[in-house]
Amino acid sequence: MTNKLTAAITAVGGYVPEDKLTNFDLEKLVETNDEWIRTRTGIEERRILKGDGLATSDMVVPAVKQLCEKRGISPQEIDCLIVGTVTPDHVFPATANIACDKLGAKNAWGFDVSAACSGFLYPLTLGASLIESGRYKKVVVCGADKMSAIINYNDRATCIIFGDGAGAVLLEPNEEGNGVLDSILRSDGSGCHYLHMKAGGSKKPASVASVMANEHYVYQEGQAVFKAAVKGMADVSAELLERNNLTSDDIAWLVPHQANLRIIDATANRMGLSKEKVMINIQRYGNTTAGTLPLCLWDWEKKLKKGDNIVLAAFGGGFTWGATWVKWAYNS
Ligand code: UT7
Repeated sequence: MTNKLTAAITAVGGYVPEDKLTNFDLEKLVETNDEWIRTRTGIEERRILKGDGLATSDMVVPAVKQLCEKRGISPQEIDCLIVGTVTPDHVFPATANIACDKLGAKNAWGFDVSAACSGFLYPLTLGASLIESGRYKKVVVCGADKMSAIINYNDRATCIIFGDGAGAVLLEPNEEGNGVLDSILRSDGSGCHYLHMKAGGSKKPASVASVMANEHYVYQEGQAVFKAAVKGMADVSAELLERNNLTSDDIAWLVPHQANLRIIDATANRMGLSKEKVMINIQRYGNTTAGTLPLCLWDWEKKLKKGDNIVLAAFGGGFTWGATWVKWAYNS
């Protein structure tokens, strides 16, 4: 009898642009201050991708290249690349297609997933299913966003939060019981009202009027999103533990979406986890949307041990949210 096939994370890659946008830089752009931003969000600085023509794929490519180098494989061995993003290079074709070309991943098919801040958890679950089906051996899942392309730097309610970055993981078949073991994913389109981009889609194509009205930027009603995020992320994480008979003692790490330190704290408290078990890098990168979770794994990779139980949790535009249980598969 063969063991059940699971999808293990076998390598992590990441990329953040060099340019930093600090709270003090933002003080010069909008009516805000470092103290307010730090106490209300936990953020101190974010990275911004600067340079003409540079796009989300230009962050996906170095993240995936790094992951291939770490694992000692060529991009040509990748079967499928899934990119979670709300800032694709183009409306079409998919950023995954462009990135595969730039990587020389000639044998891969790929596509983008639009799930905003759940843009890593949704494709992670999908990618794991491709591996579990037995049809694919190497699936790369990437969360990447160039949020600076859709942020209005005159809007203090949004410009203080977001930054640019990309992270990626390689999924491979595992028969030791490690990998992506369970996921609870949710969506509620009635949340669209509170977090969306007003124009540029088929509902309201770009026009001079839409540009003049600043409708190609992120629109967010922060307090409504905050309340839904606290409840959504905490509830689903608690549910994931319960249905797998896990207690807080079983969990080595919580990897929460990095949108606001107060949302992270609420989720950790609800799960009964002490702060030492929570990955937090929001102070350095801000909210990179689909990039937050893989960038945490990237920063913490060396501390992770084979067999560690990890819960990843996210909440964002859609609304979309969810939690995923991963048993770590290697020591680095
Ligand atoms: O990742 C995608 C999902 N997104 C999220 O999870 C974001 C969720 N929301 C949030 O993180 C928070 O709602 C924000 C960080 C966006 C805003 O924080 P808040 O504590 O909800 O602030 P608020 O909008 O309730 O505003 C409180 C006060 C207001 O002043 P008054 O009316 O009390 O005098 C705002 O005008 O803070 C003021 N304010 C600011 N002051 C300085 C709002 N933004 C700023 C700012 N600097 N940047």
